[in-house]
Amino acid sequence: MKNEHMKVTMITGASGGIGKAIADQLAGRKHDLLLIARNEETLQEQCKLLMQRHGISAHYIAADLSAPETALRVFTEVTLRGLEVEMLINNAGIGSGGDFTAISLQSELNLIQLNISSLVALTHLFLPQMQSRRNGTLVNIASMTAFMPVPYMAVYAASKAFVRSFTQAITEECKPKGVCVLLFSPGLTRTNFNASAGIEGEKALRLRSNHSQAASQTPEQVAVELIKALDEQRNFAISGRRNRIRAKLMALLPSSMIARNIASAYRKG
Ligand SMILES: NC(=O)c1ccc[n+]([C@@H]2O[C@H](COP(=O)([O-])OP(=O)(O)OC[C@H]3O[C@@H](n4cnc5c(N)ncnc54)[C@H](OP(=O)(O)O)[C@@H]3O)[C@@H](O)[C@H]2O)c1
Repeated sequence: MKNEHMKVTMITGASGGIGKAIADQLAGRKHDLLLIARNEETLQEQCKLLMQRHGISAHYIAADLSAPETALRVFTEVTLRGLEVEMLINNAGIGSGGDFTAISLQSELNLIQLNISSLVALTHLFLPQMQSRRNGTLVNIASMTAFMPVPYMAVYAASKAFVRSFTQAITEECKPKGVCVLLFSPGLTRTNFNASAGIEGEKALRLRSNHSQAASQTPEQVAVELIKALDEQRNFAISGRRNRIRAKLMALLPSSMIARNIASAYRKG
């Protein structure tokens, strides 16, 4: 395997769901890849398959981005391996749902570390090289919850509002420096996300997040829309026509009214 300053697209949370679908699509377009997630066995198997199927180079680093020191460890490992990250896709994320005070504080703090702090750290570590080369792309994955306060998903939605605000600001800072930034927001997508967040059964129904009842996309559909947004060099895209219409309607309403309605719908069940 070549490893001398090989240009790679690095995807966090690439072992399943949306990140895996993005990896598949990009491998089909001959991107060499660096995949990050916790499950080493899955990553190893996935890299083997991608290399066989697409004739690309696929690397992985097994890493837990809910730990504060991980982003720097990943950056150091990338440097040691002589890889050059020309596209960074910050996709890894976890959800949480239910009564805020009933959710364990540690799991909310881990969520903040993964969804916010590690995303900021990886961006801070890899962006300077892209800027000095005047070449590179940063993609941050938000969510429809980035546009409104969501009672009973308070910390998750706030983490995605952070991702939205941060990314839109960085987009402008990057414009004169030759780096393209995309803020990409999926809506409800049929992945392992709900299960890992413990949003299942009655809770999923009350949060309008049940895959069989609420409109949702497959991770493959989401990945196709993301690639299209990259091809069009967009700075902002929402996945799914229904979600785009919803975002436009939401923007017309006061956020306090949206929050009140979500809370009352959740309590009514
Ligand atoms: N699914 C939806 O409805 C939806 C809607 C809007 C936005 N999103 C966003 O889309 C992104 C991807 O979500 P998904 O639906 O694809 O979720 P998913 O199916 O649960 O996949 C999450 C991915 O992140 C990895 N991951 C989880 N915790 C990690 C950690 N601590 N460190 C490193 N990697 C970790 C997982 O692999 P390991 O378990 O091996 O680490 C997996 O590869 C997230 O940012 C999410 O907020 C999802």
